[in-house]
Amino acid sequence: MTSQRDLIIAVFLMVIFLITGIVCYASFTPPVTDEPMRIMFQTKAGKVLFTHSAHSFDYTTDCVECHHLTSFPPSFDCSECHSKEGDALMLSREGAFHDQCIKCHDYMGAGPVECDSCHTL
Ligand code: HEC
Ligand code: HEC
Ligand code: HEC
Ligand code: HEC
Repeated sequence: MTSQRDLIIAVFLMVIFLITGIVCYASFTPPVTDEPMRIMFQTKAGKVLFTHSAHSFDYTTDCVECHHLTSFPPSFDCSECHSKEGDALMLSREGAFHDQCIKCHDYMGAGPVECDSCHTL
């Protein structure tokens, strides 16, 4: 037969486990990234409107497809590695964008590949 005392101990332990669980969940769940809806790139060749959320949900589902080599915590800034000039080992920012955007459009047979269909504004 369970005594009143055993019951109190059991409830006490349950509360401790619950609190431990909540604290662990709160401290180890990675922060949710605020993904941009769309990005307007200002360039000398004309502005480019990039529908970020359409690209990440409708055209592909994997962030890493574009944000490759991201570390933890992730950096979503291409310039962190692809500098303005670039060098023999690393594509410039412009080169990285053109290569990634145009290659996928080409491969999928959808999306702009001509200069003025992307630099529209
Ligand atoms: C798929 C879309 C797309 C196509 C097609 C495209 N571009 Fe771009 N272009 C971009 C994006 C995005 C950037 C990077 C903007 C940034 O650095 O913030 C860029 C950057 C540039 C820059 C750098 C401008 C600056 O201010 O530093 C030049 C110049 C340029 N493009 C010219 C061209 C030319 C010429 C063509 C055709 C041969 C072309 N682009 C085709 C999307 C495109
Ligand atoms: C089709 C390519 C592509 C996909 C897929 C993609 N992104 Fe991006 N994302 C970009 C580009 C390009 C930028 C602009 C980077 C820059 O300006 O250096 C960007 C920027 C960002 C930024 C920074 C916005 C800012 O204002 O600085 C965040 C956050 C981000 N992406 C999150 C995500 C997440 C999360 C996913 C997956 C759900 C994802 N992205 C999928 C291409 C993509
Ligand atoms: C943490 C550093 C880092 C970030 C951030 C980064 N790259 Fe790169 N990227 C590299 C390195 C290193 C290479 C060369 C080695 C390789 O080919 O993987 C590269 C190569 C590339 C290439 C050449 C083709 C390929 O995949 O090998 C493209 C295109 C490219 N990056 C586009 C981008 C774009 C666009 C972004 C932002 C959405 C981005 N990169 C963000 C480090 C980075
Ligand atoms: C992983 C593949 C992939 C990459 C990478 C990618 N795109 Fe696209 N993009 C697509 C597809 C697929 C479509 C066509 C969708 C349709 O027509 O239904 C598209 C359409 C577009 C369109 C026209 C429709 C719209 O949503 O605005 C623009 C502009 C565009 N892409 C710009 C860019 C730029 C700029 C980049 C690089 C920063 C880029 N894309 C990178 C797959 C990609």
